[in-house]
Amino acid sequence: MFGKLLSYEQTNQIITLHYEEQDVTLHVLTPEIINIFVPLYTTEHRSKAIEGDKEQPTPFRIVDSCTEDGKKNIMLTTSSLICKIYDDCMIDFYDKTGNLLCADYRGRRIPRFELQESFIEFIKQEGHDVDMAGGQNYPVQCVKQLDEGDCIYGLGDKTGVLNKRFYEYENWNSDIPDPHEDCFKSLYKSIPFFITLKENGVYGIFYDNTFKSYFNFGKENNDYYSFGSDNGNLDYYFIGGNSMPDIVENYTYLTGRTPLPQKWTLGYHQSRWGYDSEEVFRNVAAKLKECRIPCDAIHFDIDYMERYKVFTWDKERFSDAKTLISDFQKQGIKTVTIIDPGVKVEKGYNMYEEGMEKGYYAKSPDGSVYVNAVWPGDAVYPDFGNPKVRDWWGEHLDFYTNLGVSGIWNDMNEPASFNGPLPNDVIFTDEDRPSTHAEIHNVYGHNMAKATYEGWKKLTNKRPFVITRACYSGSQKYSTAWTGDNQSIWTHLRMAIPQQCNLGLSGMAFVGTDIGGFGADTTPELMARWVQIGCFSPLFRSHCAKGNMNQEPWLFGDKILDIYRKYVELRYSLIPYFYDLCHECEQTGLPVIRPLVLHYEKDENVRNLNDEFLVGEQLLVAPVVEQGAVKRMVYLPEGIWYDYWTHKEYQGSQYYLVDAPLDTCPIFVKAGTILPKAPAQMYVGELENPELILEVYPGCGSYTHYHDNGEDFAYQNGAYNEYLFENKGDNNLSITKVHAGYDDYPDIKVNYINC
Ligand code: GLC
Repeated sequence: MFGKLLSYEQTNQIITLHYEEQDVTLHVLTPEIINIFVPLYTTEHRSKAIEGDKEQPTPFRIVDSCTEDGKKNIMLTTSSLICKIYDDCMIDFYDKTGNLLCADYRGRRIPRFELQESFIEFIKQEGHDVDMAGGQNYPVQCVKQLDEGDCIYGLGDKTGVLNKRFYEYENWNSDIPDPHEDCFKSLYKSIPFFITLKENGVYGIFYDNTFKSYFNFGKENNDYYSFGSDNGNLDYYFIGGNSMPDIVENYTYLTGRTPLPQKWTLGYHQSRWGYDSEEVFRNVAAKLKECRIPCDAIHFDIDYMERYKVFTWDKERFSDAKTLISDFQKQGIKTVTIIDPGVKVEKGYNMYEEGMEKGYYAKSPDGSVYVNAVWPGDAVYPDFGNPKVRDWWGEHLDFYTNLGVSGIWNDMNEPASFNGPLPNDVIFTDEDRPSTHAEIHNVYGHNMAKATYEGWKKLTNKRPFVITRACYSGSQKYSTAWTGDNQSIWTHLRMAIPQQCNLGLSGMAFVGTDIGGFGADTTPELMARWVQIGCFSPLFRSHCAKGNMNQEPWLFGDKILDIYRKYVELRYSLIPYFYDLCHECEQTGLPVIRPLVLHYEKDENVRNLNDEFLVGEQLLVAPVVEQGAVKRMVYLPEGIWYDYWTHKEYQGSQYYLVDAPLDTCPIFVKAGTILPKAPAQMYVGELENPELILEVYPGCGSYTHYHDNGEDFAYQNGAYNEYLFENKGDNNLSITKVHAGYDDYPDIKVNYINC
């Protein structure tokens, strides 16, 4: 396809490689990030994930070179990476010491197994889905070498285990109501970024292509992996760094970081599809208070609307939405409303009429407006790739801000369609040019979230709270996300851990699962175990489906209610810690929930660890994810750890069998930790200026704590405080204010934990 490398030329940090058949550009963005661009579809990038110029002045050298076996190449060297470029666009990356990180695969592709046509027909008879185990070629693709010990992480919300090595996936945002199985290739989000952890190095690849894409991480053959697409450019970023956190930092430097949220969004959220009248909502709020379950938000699913028409509120079931919302506000409860993209086809309905008049809906190739169906029945699809449509949608959000709504939940934005999939040739807009569904599909939800974020910011000047189901790389700049329609089954509780960890590694730091499970009926035990994981998810929301058993915490008896309250209260006490993690995330891109491998990548015991996670670097959570289990095996990585509940000391790098009765989620605190905590509150902000409590664990360590008004953008102009706490061991803590720009705490209480 490329042929011999004939010559190259350099313009600033861009090197154009002239191959016999095709030009390729290499763009050195930073010492650790190099873009490879083969213009198979457009001449420029047109990235949806990367905004702004990411090039940093980066010195590098290019020399003509030769391998030991005499193969000519060009060698490009930055302060961190060496890149060797050969004929046929074979490009290999090394770290600065010359250690090979990633080589293009030169061998013949040999699928692990190939089925004979006759046999395929034979086994299909019983209804088996025949999987060819990869081996396909795609119009755009890249094949890279795999080494024996390589592990692969990332790729967003894919099902299954943490380490994606040996598995195969596709990126095509999909609304799948069936129980999500490990073997599913796609779910709601398309995040074409992965990290390869090697025995002696690590790198990331961000494959910026929005068409349907394919990732085969060694399932086809143990010696190589591949990524490819049906169309688009071969446009990928090689991301180097000294460690996994460096790779995440570099990837989020490119695609953006989760911005600091409003503090209340870190509280508990109560939701259910089926809350369908003012009375029901008022009862839920009253019950939460009666049962002393702290809560910051109640979510309004599609039933608040008039016949599922977005930007309407049903007046029959809700006599006065504004008063309801303001009554909730007085109790400290914020209102979050769902908005789906599908706009009902209905004469006289303002969103439909206005959008039709302005030509803001996707069209069929014959020029007529494209109609499919979602909840409201026949519906049209706003063309969010058009900046004017985004502005229009954003302006209409004043319907919600005027009522006092505090956040928007964007759903069904894969986009979902009940009358079969949207054909690939439905016409959408890509900013300033026409495009197709095939190209826009995977960024439809991303563009919708962007419209919502930007519109909300303009209207409120507060940090927008947006939740989205569908994502592309970079959606973290606009929105939080949840993992969609899980089920009330133990396998989905287990899956919540690798799924959230991989989302975090893929830049989506503010995520959560439907606590208790969305589909199917939960059980008291499952509910108790789910809140023990859910209280550590940045997005802490209980939600379930209409038609299934209700799962409010008070429905399972006093024992479960007490357990539920214990973990909601734990979360509220840890809000200063979560807020610090969100602040850190805005600075570095490091997620809140982290797989252990992120901080202990040299430790082989954590590379495939699916049932434990870290919250920041200080807390290790080992929840129970098996029905009936009251003990579990816990692996603690190097160092000394303390049981959060009993303060018992543990030496790391070992496995332990620990007690975990139903009311106990094993949590461990790293030695030297300074854990910032808040006094008990029924909602964030109940106490006007609460004191800060520091729990100081034995050992040494330092910790930076961040504090601001938790609401608007004043912090960007310095309106915040930053403290440096230093734990010098032996009950000796120093507190230094390193930035003063906000109100002081009335008190900072120090509790030395003596273990
Ligand atoms: C989708 C969403 C779910 C929501 C339902 C009704 O299934 O994933 O969360 O409750 O639609 O709006």
